[in-house]
Amino acid sequence: MLVTFKPLALTAATRPDETILDAARRVGAPLGNSCGGVGVCARCRVTIAEGADKLSPPTAIERRVSQRSNLDPDERLACQAVVLGDCTVTTSYW
Ligand code: FES
Repeated sequence: MLVTFKPLALTAATRPDETILDAARRVGAPLGNSCGGVGVCARCRVTIAEGADKLSPPTAIERRVSQRSNLDPDERLACQAVVLGDCTVTTSYW
């Protein structure tokens, strides 16, 4: 399973149960995070450009934080979304 970080030209081959944030950290794709990946700060929000159906469903905490933080329907919290297949993600600051 591959996660492509666009437009950084970085791609991570993911490991079982790995989140987008885990994959980003491993390949050096800078992603905001200030809660240590527990799903409460929303700093790790990413837009899913391709492969939204290849991610785990939003967790209960992700649904709450997404609503509170006004995430768009195509956005996910990178620390909560487990990669289940190939996908491409981007942010507004890359
Ligand atoms: S790192 Fe804080 S919500 Fe993802």
